[in-house]
Amino acid sequence: MKFKTQKIAYYFFAVCMLLLTLQIVYGFIMGFAHMGYDNLHSIIPFHTARATHTNLLVMWLLAGFMGSAYYIIPEESGRDLIFPKLALVQLGAFVAVGVTAIIGFHFNWWEGRKFLEIPRPLDYLVVVDVLLFIFLIGGTIWKGKRYSTTSMVLFFGLLSAALLYLPGMIPTTNQTMDSYWRWWVVHLWVEGVWELIMGAILSFLLIKLTGVDREIIEKWLYVIVGFTFLSGILGTGHHYYFIGTPRYWLMIGGIFGALEPLAFLGMAMYAIAMAKKGGRQHPNKLALTWTIGCAVMSFVGAGFLGFAHTLPQVNIYTHGTLVTAMHGHLAFWGAYAMLIFAMIAYALPNLTGRKLFDSGWSVFAFWASNIGMVAMTLAFGVAGIAQVYLERRMGMDFLLVQKEIQVHFLGLVLAAALFSLGIFAFIWIFIKYGPPKGKIEHAKATN
Ligand code: HEM
Ligand code: HEM
Ligand SMILES: [Fe+2]
Repeated sequence: MKFKTQKIAYYFFAVCMLLLTLQIVYGFIMGFAHMGYDNLHSIIPFHTARATHTNLLVMWLLAGFMGSAYYIIPEESGRDLIFPKLALVQLGAFVAVGVTAIIGFHFNWWEGRKFLEIPRPLDYLVVVDVLLFIFLIGGTIWKGKRYSTTSMVLFFGLLSAALLYLPGMIPTTNQTMDSYWRWWVVHLWVEGVWELIMGAILSFLLIKLTGVDREIIEKWLYVIVGFTFLSGILGTGHHYYFIGTPRYWLMIGGIFGALEPLAFLGMAMYAIAMAKKGGRQHPNKLALTWTIGCAVMSFVGAGFLGFAHTLPQVNIYTHGTLVTAMHGHLAFWGAYAMLIFAMIAYALPNLTGRKLFDSGWSVFAFWASNIGMVAMTLAFGVAGIAQVYLERRMGMDFLLVQKEIQVHFLGLVLAAALFSLGIFAFIWIFIKYGPPKGKIEHAKATN
Protein backbone atom coordinates (compact mmCIF):
# COMPACT_ATOMS: atom_id res chain seq x y z
CA MET A 1 0.00 0.00 0.00
CA LYS A 2 1.08 3.57 -0.60
CA PHE A 3 -0.34 5.38 2.45
CA LYS A 4 -0.41 4.23 6.03
CA THR A 5 -4.02 5.24 6.63
CA GLN A 6 -5.24 2.87 3.90
CA LYS A 7 -4.90 0.27 6.64
CA ILE A 8 -8.26 1.39 8.00
CA ALA A 9 -9.93 -0.39 5.08
CA TYR A 10 -8.88 -3.71 6.61
CA TYR A 11 -11.08 -3.27 9.69
CA PHE A 12 -14.10 -2.43 7.54
CA PHE A 13 -13.48 -5.54 5.43
CA ALA A 14 -13.18 -7.67 8.58
CA VAL A 15 -16.61 -6.38 9.69
CA CYS A 16 -17.96 -7.36 6.25
CA MET A 17 -16.82 -10.96 6.72
CA LEU A 18 -18.42 -11.13 10.16
CA LEU A 19 -21.78 -9.68 9.14
CA LEU A 20 -21.90 -11.81 5.98
CA THR A 21 -21.48 -14.94 8.12
CA LEU A 22 -24.41 -13.87 10.29
CA GLN A 23 -26.48 -13.05 7.19
CA ILE A 24 -25.93 -16.58 5.92
CA VAL A 25 -27.10 -18.06 9.24
CA TYR A 26 -30.40 -16.17 8.91
CA GLY A 27 -30.65 -17.27 5.25
CA PHE A 28 -30.54 -20.90 6.38
CA ILE A 29 -33.14 -20.26 9.10
CA MET A 30 -35.50 -19.03 6.36
CA GLY A 31 -34.52 -21.78 3.95
CA PHE A 32 -35.48 -24.42 6.52
CA ALA A 33 -38.65 -22.53 7.48
CA HIS A 34 -39.69 -22.64 3.78
CA MET A 35 -39.15 -26.43 3.84
CA GLY A 36 -41.57 -26.69 6.76
CA TYR A 37 -38.94 -26.86 9.53
CA ASP A 38 -39.76 -23.58 11.22
CA ASN A 39 -38.50 -24.83 14.59
CA LEU A 40 -37.15 -21.50 15.77
CA HIS A 41 -40.46 -19.76 15.12
CA SER A 42 -41.11 -18.74 18.72
CA ILE A 43 -37.72 -17.01 19.05
CA ILE A 44 -37.00 -15.94 15.47
CA PRO A 45 -40.20 -15.77 13.42
CA PHE A 46 -39.88 -15.52 9.62
CA HIS A 47 -40.37 -11.75 9.44
CA THR A 48 -37.59 -11.21 12.00
CA ALA A 49 -35.23 -13.54 10.14
CA ARG A 50 -36.03 -11.82 6.85
CA ALA A 51 -35.48 -8.29 8.16
CA THR A 52 -32.25 -9.40 9.85
CA HIS A 53 -31.00 -11.19 6.69
CA THR A 54 -31.61 -8.23 4.39
CA ASN A 55 -30.44 -5.52 6.82
CA LEU A 56 -27.24 -7.41 7.54
CA LEU A 57 -26.73 -7.55 3.77
CA VAL A 58 -27.15 -3.79 3.39
CA MET A 59 -24.91 -3.18 6.42
CA TRP A 60 -21.99 -5.27 5.22
CA LEU A 61 -22.25 -3.87 1.71
CA LEU A 62 -22.13 -0.32 3.11
CA ALA A 63 -19.18 -1.29 5.33
CA GLY A 64 -17.54 -2.70 2.19
CA PHE A 65 -18.13 0.52 0.22
CA MET A 66 -16.74 2.57 3.09
CA GLY A 67 -13.67 0.32 3.43
CA SER A 68 -13.10 0.51 -0.33
CA ALA A 69 -13.34 4.31 -0.20
CA TYR A 70 -10.84 4.48 2.68
CA TYR A 71 -8.46 2.40 0.55
CA ILE A 72 -9.04 4.14 -2.80
CA ILE A 73 -9.36 7.81 -1.84
CA PRO A 74 -5.89 8.26 -0.26
CA GLU A 75 -4.28 6.52 -3.24
CA GLU A 76 -6.23 8.54 -5.82
CA SER A 77 -5.75 11.83 -3.96
CA GLY A 78 -2.07 11.26 -3.26
CA ARG A 79 -2.23 11.83 0.51
CA ASP A 80 -3.10 10.16 3.79
CA LEU A 81 -6.65 10.21 5.11
CA ILE A 82 -7.51 13.16 7.33
CA PHE A 83 -8.28 12.28 10.99
CA PRO A 84 -7.70 8.51 10.64
CA LYS A 85 -8.69 7.82 14.25
CA LEU A 86 -12.12 9.32 13.58
CA ALA A 87 -12.58 6.75 10.79
CA LEU A 88 -12.26 3.99 13.40
CA VAL A 89 -14.77 5.79 15.63
CA GLN A 90 -17.04 6.00 12.61
CA LEU A 91 -16.74 2.23 12.09
CA GLY A 92 -17.38 1.53 15.78
CA ALA A 93 -20.49 3.72 15.78
CA PHE A 94 -21.74 2.13 12.55
CA VAL A 95 -21.44 -1.36 14.02
CA ALA A 96 -23.04 -0.26 17.32
CA VAL A 97 -26.09 1.19 15.55
CA GLY A 98 -26.39 -1.85 13.28
CA VAL A 99 -26.16 -4.35 16.12
CA THR A 100 -28.75 -2.39 18.15
CA ALA A 101 -31.10 -2.46 15.17
CA ILE A 102 -30.64 -6.20 14.65
CA ILE A 103 -31.26 -6.95 18.32
CA GLY A 104 -34.28 -4.61 18.21
CA PHE A 105 -35.81 -6.63 15.33
CA HIS A 106 -35.86 -9.68 17.64
CA PHE A 107 -38.04 -7.73 20.08
CA ASN A 108 -40.30 -6.37 17.33
CA TRP A 109 -38.69 -2.94 17.47
CA TRP A 110 -38.82 -2.19 13.75
CA GLU A 111 -40.70 -0.22 11.11
CA GLY A 112 -41.99 -3.13 9.03
CA ARG A 113 -40.99 -1.48 5.74
CA LYS A 114 -38.99 -3.90 3.59
CA PHE A 115 -35.28 -2.93 3.62
CA LEU A 116 -35.97 0.16 5.75
CA GLU A 117 -36.92 -1.67 8.92
CA ILE A 118 -34.44 0.24 11.11
CA PRO A 119 -36.43 2.15 13.78
CA ARG A 120 -36.57 5.94 13.36
CA PRO A 121 -34.33 7.03 16.28
CA LEU A 122 -31.56 4.84 14.90
CA ASP A 123 -32.06 6.33 11.40
CA TYR A 124 -30.84 9.67 12.75
CA LEU A 125 -27.73 8.02 14.13
CA VAL A 126 -27.09 6.38 10.75
CA VAL A 127 -27.31 9.81 9.12
CA VAL A 128 -24.79 11.32 11.57
CA ASP A 129 -22.41 8.40 11.07
CA VAL A 130 -22.58 8.61 7.28
CA LEU A 131 -22.07 12.39 7.39
CA LEU A 132 -18.87 11.80 9.36
CA PHE A 133 -17.73 9.30 6.74
CA ILE A 134 -18.50 11.73 3.89
CA PHE A 135 -16.60 14.46 5.75
CA LEU A 136 -13.53 12.25 6.14
CA ILE A 137 -13.26 11.17 2.52
CA GLY A 138 -14.46 14.55 1.16
CA GLY A 139 -11.85 16.35 3.25
CA THR A 140 -9.13 14.00 2.05
CA ILE A 141 -10.03 14.62 -1.60
CA TRP A 142 -10.23 18.39 -0.96
CA LYS A 143 -6.78 18.52 0.58
CA GLY A 144 -5.31 15.97 -1.85
CA LYS A 145 -2.89 16.48 -4.74
CA ARG A 146 -5.34 15.71 -7.52
CA TYR A 147 -9.02 15.18 -8.30
CA SER A 148 -9.27 12.04 -10.43
CA THR A 149 -12.47 11.10 -12.27
CA THR A 150 -12.52 7.81 -10.35
CA SER A 151 -12.41 9.51 -6.96
CA MET A 152 -14.99 12.13 -7.95
CA VAL A 153 -17.47 9.52 -9.22
CA LEU A 154 -16.90 7.49 -6.06
CA PHE A 155 -17.38 10.53 -3.85
CA PHE A 156 -20.54 11.73 -5.57
CA GLY A 157 -21.93 8.19 -5.59
CA LEU A 158 -21.41 7.93 -1.83
CA LEU A 159 -22.71 11.44 -1.15
CA SER A 160 -25.86 10.84 -3.22
CA ALA A 161 -26.40 7.50 -1.48
CA ALA A 162 -26.28 9.35 1.86
CA LEU A 163 -28.75 12.00 0.65
CA LEU A 164 -31.10 9.42 -0.81
CA TYR A 165 -31.48 7.80 2.59
CA LEU A 166 -33.51 10.85 3.63
CA PRO A 167 -36.70 10.39 1.51
CA GLY A 168 -37.24 7.10 3.39
CA MET A 169 -37.63 9.17 6.56
CA ILE A 170 -40.43 11.45 5.27
CA PRO A 171 -43.31 10.98 7.72
CA THR A 172 -46.62 9.89 6.19
CA THR A 173 -49.59 7.78 7.23
CA ASN A 174 -50.55 7.07 3.63
CA GLN A 175 -49.55 3.57 2.45
CA THR A 176 -49.09 4.64 -1.19
CA MET A 177 -46.96 7.65 -0.27
CA ASP A 178 -44.90 5.49 2.05
CA SER A 179 -44.24 2.98 -0.75
CA TYR A 180 -43.57 5.82 -3.15
CA TRP A 181 -40.74 7.26 -0.99
CA ARG A 182 -39.44 3.85 0.04
CA TRP A 183 -38.55 3.19 -3.60
CA TRP A 184 -36.58 6.42 -3.78
CA VAL A 185 -34.23 4.78 -1.35
CA VAL A 186 -34.32 1.14 -2.46
CA HIS A 187 -34.47 1.57 -6.24
CA LEU A 188 -32.44 4.77 -6.59
CA TRP A 189 -29.75 3.17 -4.47
CA VAL A 190 -29.28 -0.16 -6.26
CA GLU A 191 -30.20 1.02 -9.77
CA GLY A 192 -28.81 4.54 -9.50
CA VAL A 193 -26.18 5.86 -7.16
CA TRP A 194 -24.75 2.51 -6.03
CA GLU A 195 -24.01 1.89 -9.71
CA LEU A 196 -21.82 4.99 -9.65
CA ILE A 197 -19.96 3.56 -6.66
CA MET A 198 -19.65 0.29 -8.57
CA GLY A 199 -18.43 2.05 -11.75
CA ALA A 200 -15.79 3.95 -9.76
CA ILE A 201 -14.51 0.91 -7.84
CA LEU A 202 -14.41 -1.16 -11.06
CA SER A 203 -12.53 1.65 -12.75
CA PHE A 204 -9.97 1.79 -9.90
CA LEU A 205 -9.50 -1.98 -10.02
CA LEU A 206 -9.19 -2.03 -13.81
CA ILE A 207 -6.60 0.77 -13.75
CA LYS A 208 -4.53 -1.17 -11.20
CA LEU A 209 -5.00 -4.66 -12.61
CA THR A 210 -4.98 -4.31 -16.40
CA GLY A 211 -2.37 -1.62 -16.91
CA VAL A 212 -4.60 0.13 -19.50
CA ASP A 213 -4.23 3.94 -19.50
CA ARG A 214 -6.27 5.77 -16.90
CA GLU A 215 -7.60 8.17 -19.59
CA ILE A 216 -9.18 5.33 -21.55
CA ILE A 217 -10.70 3.61 -18.51
CA GLU A 218 -12.09 6.84 -17.07
CA LYS A 219 -13.52 8.01 -20.41
CA TRP A 220 -15.75 4.93 -20.50
CA LEU A 221 -16.69 5.52 -16.89
CA TYR A 222 -18.45 8.71 -18.02
CA VAL A 223 -20.42 6.78 -20.64
CA ILE A 224 -21.62 4.26 -18.02
CA VAL A 225 -22.59 7.04 -15.60
CA GLY A 226 -24.62 8.60 -18.43
CA PHE A 227 -26.46 5.34 -19.22
CA THR A 228 -27.17 4.71 -15.55
CA PHE A 229 -28.90 8.02 -15.02
CA LEU A 230 -30.69 7.99 -18.36
CA SER A 231 -32.47 4.74 -17.57
CA GLY A 232 -32.26 4.37 -13.78
CA ILE A 233 -34.03 7.52 -12.59
CA LEU A 234 -37.29 7.09 -14.49
CA GLY A 235 -36.85 3.32 -14.23
CA THR A 236 -38.10 3.78 -10.65
CA GLY A 237 -41.49 3.63 -12.38
CA HIS A 238 -41.25 -0.20 -12.54
CA HIS A 239 -42.14 -0.15 -8.83
CA TYR A 240 -45.07 2.24 -9.30
CA TYR A 241 -47.28 -0.02 -11.42
CA PHE A 242 -49.64 -1.34 -8.77
CA ILE A 243 -49.18 0.65 -5.58
CA GLY A 244 -51.88 3.28 -6.12
CA THR A 245 -49.85 5.79 -8.17
CA PRO A 246 -51.17 7.27 -11.47
CA ARG A 247 -51.45 5.04 -14.56
CA TYR A 248 -48.81 6.88 -16.57
CA TRP A 249 -46.17 5.05 -14.53
CA LEU A 250 -47.06 1.85 -16.42
CA MET A 251 -45.69 3.40 -19.60
CA ILE A 252 -42.73 5.24 -18.02
CA GLY A 253 -41.66 2.31 -15.83
CA GLY A 254 -42.10 -0.13 -18.73
CA ILE A 255 -39.90 1.84 -21.14
CA PHE A 256 -37.14 3.06 -18.82
CA GLY A 257 -37.04 -0.15 -16.78
CA ALA A 258 -36.46 -2.08 -19.99
CA LEU A 259 -33.51 0.22 -20.86
CA GLU A 260 -31.78 -0.30 -17.50
CA PRO A 261 -29.98 -3.55 -18.42
CA LEU A 262 -27.98 -1.52 -20.97
CA ALA A 263 -25.97 0.14 -18.19
CA PHE A 264 -25.09 -3.31 -16.76
CA LEU A 265 -24.33 -4.67 -20.23
CA GLY A 266 -22.08 -1.65 -20.80
CA MET A 267 -20.28 -2.32 -17.52
CA ALA A 268 -19.66 -5.99 -18.42
CA MET A 269 -18.40 -5.17 -21.94
CA TYR A 270 -16.20 -2.42 -20.52
CA ALA A 271 -14.54 -4.67 -17.95
CA ILE A 272 -13.95 -7.50 -20.43
CA ALA A 273 -12.63 -5.12 -23.11
CA MET A 274 -10.19 -3.47 -20.67
CA ALA A 275 -8.94 -6.84 -19.39
CA LYS A 276 -8.32 -7.99 -22.97
CA LYS A 277 -6.61 -4.75 -23.92
CA GLY A 278 -4.31 -4.88 -20.89
CA GLY A 279 -3.31 -8.49 -21.55
CA ARG A 280 -3.74 -9.40 -17.86
CA GLN A 281 -0.22 -8.54 -16.65
CA HIS A 282 -0.85 -8.09 -12.93
CA PRO A 283 0.24 -11.06 -10.76
CA ASN A 284 -2.99 -10.90 -8.71
CA LYS A 285 -5.09 -12.71 -11.34
CA LEU A 286 -7.65 -13.67 -8.72
CA ALA A 287 -8.59 -10.04 -8.09
CA LEU A 288 -9.07 -9.59 -11.83
CA THR A 289 -11.22 -12.73 -11.93
CA TRP A 290 -13.48 -11.28 -9.19
CA THR A 291 -13.56 -7.93 -11.02
CA ILE A 292 -14.61 -9.39 -14.38
CA GLY A 293 -16.88 -11.87 -12.57
CA CYS A 294 -18.65 -8.97 -10.86
CA ALA A 295 -19.23 -7.11 -14.11
CA VAL A 296 -20.58 -10.24 -15.86
CA MET A 297 -22.71 -11.59 -12.99
CA SER A 298 -24.24 -8.19 -12.34
CA PHE A 299 -25.44 -8.17 -15.93
CA VAL A 300 -26.96 -11.64 -15.50
CA GLY A 301 -28.55 -10.98 -12.08
CA ALA A 302 -29.55 -7.34 -12.36
CA GLY A 303 -29.78 -6.77 -16.13
CA PHE A 304 -31.10 -10.06 -17.49
CA LEU A 305 -33.13 -11.28 -14.51
CA GLY A 306 -34.30 -7.72 -13.80
CA PHE A 307 -35.59 -7.46 -17.36
CA ALA A 308 -37.39 -10.79 -16.88
CA HIS A 309 -40.01 -9.11 -14.63
CA THR A 310 -39.75 -5.39 -15.37
CA LEU A 311 -42.54 -5.13 -17.97
CA PRO A 312 -45.95 -4.42 -16.40
CA GLN A 313 -47.50 -7.31 -18.37
CA VAL A 314 -45.18 -9.71 -16.52
CA ASN A 315 -44.87 -7.86 -13.21
CA ILE A 316 -48.61 -7.98 -12.63
CA TYR A 317 -48.16 -11.74 -12.07
CA THR A 318 -44.68 -11.92 -10.53
CA HIS A 319 -44.84 -8.90 -8.18
CA GLY A 320 -43.73 -9.76 -4.66
CA THR A 321 -43.26 -13.49 -5.34
CA LEU A 322 -40.16 -15.67 -5.13
CA VAL A 323 -39.35 -14.51 -8.68
CA THR A 324 -38.35 -11.25 -6.98
CA ALA A 325 -36.18 -13.17 -4.49
CA MET A 326 -34.54 -14.99 -7.43
CA HIS A 327 -33.55 -11.69 -9.04
CA GLY A 328 -32.70 -10.03 -5.70
CA HIS A 329 -30.12 -12.71 -4.81
CA LEU A 330 -28.17 -12.81 -8.07
CA ALA A 331 -28.34 -9.03 -8.56
CA PHE A 332 -27.01 -8.21 -5.09
CA TRP A 333 -24.42 -10.95 -5.30
CA GLY A 334 -23.16 -10.10 -8.80
CA ALA A 335 -23.17 -6.34 -8.58
CA TYR A 336 -22.28 -5.49 -5.01
CA ALA A 337 -21.10 -8.53 -3.04
CA MET A 338 -18.66 -9.59 -5.79
CA LEU A 339 -17.50 -5.99 -6.12
CA ILE A 340 -16.45 -5.95 -2.47
CA PHE A 341 -14.87 -9.39 -2.79
CA ALA A 342 -12.88 -8.07 -5.78
CA MET A 343 -11.74 -5.09 -3.74
CA ILE A 344 -10.76 -7.30 -0.79
CA ALA A 345 -8.95 -9.75 -3.09
CA TYR A 346 -6.99 -6.82 -4.51
CA ALA A 347 -6.34 -4.90 -1.30
CA LEU A 348 -5.42 -7.69 1.17
CA PRO A 349 -2.04 -8.64 -0.35
CA ASN A 350 -1.10 -4.94 -0.44
CA LEU A 351 -2.30 -4.28 3.11
CA THR A 352 -0.71 -7.31 4.73
CA GLY A 353 2.35 -7.84 2.53
CA ARG A 354 1.39 -11.52 2.07
CA LYS A 355 0.55 -12.95 -1.33
CA LEU A 356 -1.94 -15.77 -0.95
CA PHE A 357 -3.88 -15.17 -4.17
CA ASP A 358 -2.49 -18.21 -5.96
CA SER A 359 -3.71 -20.72 -3.38
CA GLY A 360 -6.19 -23.44 -4.30
CA TRP A 361 -8.62 -22.25 -1.62
CA SER A 362 -8.86 -18.81 -3.24
CA VAL A 363 -9.83 -20.36 -6.57
CA PHE A 364 -12.26 -22.72 -4.82
CA ALA A 365 -13.84 -19.74 -3.02
CA PHE A 366 -14.59 -18.04 -6.33
CA TRP A 367 -16.10 -21.04 -8.10
CA ALA A 368 -17.99 -22.63 -5.20
CA SER A 369 -19.64 -19.35 -4.20
CA ASN A 370 -20.57 -18.49 -7.76
CA ILE A 371 -21.84 -21.91 -8.81
CA GLY A 372 -23.68 -22.12 -5.46
CA MET A 373 -25.33 -18.73 -5.98
CA VAL A 374 -26.37 -19.54 -9.56
CA ALA A 375 -27.91 -22.80 -8.28
CA MET A 376 -29.71 -20.89 -5.50
CA THR A 377 -31.05 -18.51 -8.12
CA LEU A 378 -32.37 -21.46 -10.14
CA ALA A 379 -34.05 -22.93 -7.05
CA PHE A 380 -35.75 -19.61 -6.25
CA GLY A 381 -36.69 -19.28 -9.93
CA VAL A 382 -38.38 -22.69 -10.14
CA ALA A 383 -40.19 -22.10 -6.84
CA GLY A 384 -41.17 -18.60 -8.00
CA ILE A 385 -42.59 -19.72 -11.34
CA ALA A 386 -44.55 -22.52 -9.65
CA GLN A 387 -45.87 -19.97 -7.13
CA VAL A 388 -46.94 -17.56 -9.90
CA TYR A 389 -48.86 -20.29 -11.72
CA LEU A 390 -50.58 -21.77 -8.69
CA GLU A 391 -51.28 -18.58 -6.77
CA ARG A 392 -51.73 -15.91 -9.42
CA ARG A 393 -53.09 -17.93 -12.38
CA MET A 394 -54.97 -20.76 -10.68
CA GLY A 395 -56.06 -18.62 -7.72
CA MET A 396 -54.89 -21.02 -5.00
CA ASP A 397 -54.50 -19.74 -1.44
CA PHE A 398 -51.08 -18.26 -0.55
CA LEU A 399 -50.28 -20.73 2.25
CA LEU A 400 -51.47 -23.79 0.31
CA VAL A 401 -49.10 -22.77 -2.49
CA GLN A 402 -46.24 -22.35 -0.02
CA LYS A 403 -46.81 -25.99 1.00
CA GLU A 404 -46.80 -27.13 -2.63
CA ILE A 405 -43.43 -25.52 -3.31
CA GLN A 406 -41.64 -26.68 -0.15
CA VAL A 407 -39.68 -29.27 -2.10
CA HIS A 408 -37.82 -26.61 -4.09
CA PHE A 409 -36.31 -25.33 -0.88
CA LEU A 410 -34.41 -28.57 -0.42
CA GLY A 411 -32.66 -27.58 -3.65
CA LEU A 412 -32.17 -24.08 -2.28
CA VAL A 413 -30.58 -25.29 0.95
CA LEU A 414 -28.24 -27.69 -0.90
CA ALA A 415 -27.17 -24.93 -3.28
CA ALA A 416 -26.75 -22.55 -0.33
CA ALA A 417 -24.48 -25.12 1.35
CA LEU A 418 -22.14 -25.07 -1.67
CA PHE A 419 -22.30 -21.27 -1.73
CA SER A 420 -21.47 -21.11 1.97
CA LEU A 421 -18.46 -23.44 1.54
CA GLY A 422 -17.10 -20.97 -1.02
CA ILE A 423 -17.70 -18.05 1.33
CA PHE A 424 -16.07 -19.83 4.26
CA ALA A 425 -13.02 -20.59 2.08
CA PHE A 426 -12.82 -16.86 1.27
CA ILE A 427 -13.06 -15.98 4.96
CA TRP A 428 -10.46 -18.62 5.83
CA ILE A 429 -8.00 -16.99 3.39
CA PHE A 430 -8.94 -13.59 4.85
CA ILE A 431 -8.00 -14.85 8.33
CA LYS A 432 -4.78 -16.41 7.02
CA TYR A 433 -3.70 -13.07 5.56
CA GLY A 434 -3.56 -11.78 9.12
CA PRO A 435 -3.67 -8.15 10.25
CA PRO A 436 -2.34 -5.29 8.09
CA LYS A 437 1.37 -4.54 8.43
CA GLY A 438 1.30 -0.90 7.45
CA LYS A 439 4.35 -1.27 5.17
CA ILE A 440 4.57 1.51 2.59
CA GLU A 441 5.73 0.84 -0.99
CA HIS A 442 7.55 3.66 -2.69
CA ALA A 443 8.50 1.73 -5.77
CA LYS A 444 5.95 2.72 -8.39
CA ALA A 445 4.42 6.10 -9.13
CA THR A 446 0.61 5.99 -9.11
CA ASN A 447 -0.81 5.48 -12.57
C1 HEM B 1 -27.63 -4.34 -8.95
C2 HEM B 1 -28.80 -3.95 -9.27
C3 HEM B 1 -30.05 -4.49 -8.70
C4 HEM B 1 -30.31 -5.01 -7.46
C5 HEM B 1 -29.33 -5.20 -6.30
C6 HEM B 1 -31.71 -5.36 -7.42
C7 HEM B 1 -32.35 -5.93 -6.33
C8 HEM B 1 -33.71 -6.01 -6.19
C9 HEM B 1 -34.42 -6.37 -4.98
C10 HEM B 1 -33.77 -6.75 -3.65
C11 HEM B 1 -35.75 -6.28 -5.23
C12 HEM B 1 -36.89 -6.48 -4.21
C13 HEM B 1 -37.12 -5.14 -3.59
C14 HEM B 1 -38.33 -5.01 -2.72
O1 HEM B 1 -39.37 -5.66 -3.00
O2 HEM B 1 -38.28 -4.22 -1.75
C15 HEM B 1 -35.90 -5.87 -6.62
C16 HEM B 1 -37.10 -5.66 -7.26
C17 HEM B 1 -37.21 -5.44 -8.60
N1 HEM B 1 -36.19 -5.29 -9.53
FE1 HEM B 1 -34.24 -5.22 -9.10
N2 HEM B 1 -32.28 -5.06 -8.64
C18 HEM B 1 -31.31 -4.53 -9.44
C19 HEM B 1 -31.45 -4.12 -10.75
C20 HEM B 1 -32.61 -4.24 -11.49
C21 HEM B 1 -32.74 -3.94 -12.90
C22 HEM B 1 -31.61 -3.43 -13.79
C23 HEM B 1 -34.04 -4.17 -13.23
C24 HEM B 1 -34.74 -4.04 -14.57
C25 HEM B 1 -34.25 -4.33 -15.68
C26 HEM B 1 -34.73 -4.59 -12.03
C27 HEM B 1 -36.08 -4.88 -11.95
C28 HEM B 1 -36.75 -5.08 -10.76
C29 HEM B 1 -38.20 -5.12 -10.64
C30 HEM B 1 -39.21 -4.95 -11.77
C31 HEM B 1 -38.49 -5.34 -9.29
C32 HEM B 1 -39.87 -5.43 -8.63
C33 HEM B 1 -40.25 -6.84 -8.39
C34 HEM B 1 -41.63 -6.95 -7.78
O3 HEM B 1 -42.55 -6.33 -8.32
O4 HEM B 1 -41.78 -7.66 -6.78
N3 HEM B 1 -33.83 -4.63 -10.99
N4 HEM B 1 -34.65 -5.74 -7.18
C1 HEM C 1 -26.84 -19.36 2.62
C2 HEM C 1 -27.23 -18.46 1.86
C3 HEM C 1 -28.60 -17.87 1.76
C4 HEM C 1 -29.84 -18.43 1.93
C5 HEM C 1 -30.19 -19.84 2.33
C6 HEM C 1 -30.81 -17.39 1.66
C7 HEM C 1 -32.18 -17.55 1.73
C8 HEM C 1 -33.11 -16.54 1.64
C9 HEM C 1 -34.53 -16.68 1.83
C10 HEM C 1 -35.22 -18.01 2.13
C11 HEM C 1 -35.11 -15.47 1.66
C12 HEM C 1 -36.58 -15.12 1.84
C13 HEM C 1 -37.38 -15.31 0.62
C14 HEM C 1 -38.84 -15.06 0.95
O1 HEM C 1 -39.23 -13.90 1.10
O2 HEM C 1 -39.59 -16.02 1.10
C15 HEM C 1 -34.04 -14.53 1.37
C16 HEM C 1 -34.23 -13.20 1.11
C17 HEM C 1 -33.24 -12.38 0.58
N1 HEM C 1 -31.88 -12.70 0.49
FE1 HEM C 1 -31.02 -14.45 0.93
N2 HEM C 1 -30.15 -16.24 1.32
C18 HEM C 1 -28.80 -16.50 1.37
C19 HEM C 1 -27.78 -15.62 1.08
C20 HEM C 1 -27.97 -14.37 0.55
C21 HEM C 1 -26.93 -13.53 -0.01
C22 HEM C 1 -25.44 -13.88 -0.05
C23 HEM C 1 -27.54 -12.42 -0.48
C24 HEM C 1 -26.95 -11.23 -1.20
C25 HEM C 1 -25.90 -11.23 -1.91
C26 HEM C 1 -28.96 -12.52 -0.19
C27 HEM C 1 -29.92 -11.58 -0.49
C28 HEM C 1 -31.26 -11.65 -0.16
C29 HEM C 1 -32.23 -10.63 -0.49
C30 HEM C 1 -31.93 -9.31 -1.21
C31 HEM C 1 -33.46 -11.08 -0.01
C32 HEM C 1 -34.80 -10.35 -0.14
C33 HEM C 1 -35.39 -10.75 -1.47
C34 HEM C 1 -36.70 -10.07 -1.80
O3 HEM C 1 -36.82 -8.88 -1.55
O4 HEM C 1 -37.61 -10.74 -2.30
N3 HEM C 1 -29.19 -13.72 0.44
N4 HEM C 1 -32.84 -15.20 1.35
FE1 LIG D 1 -35.95 -1.11 -9.45
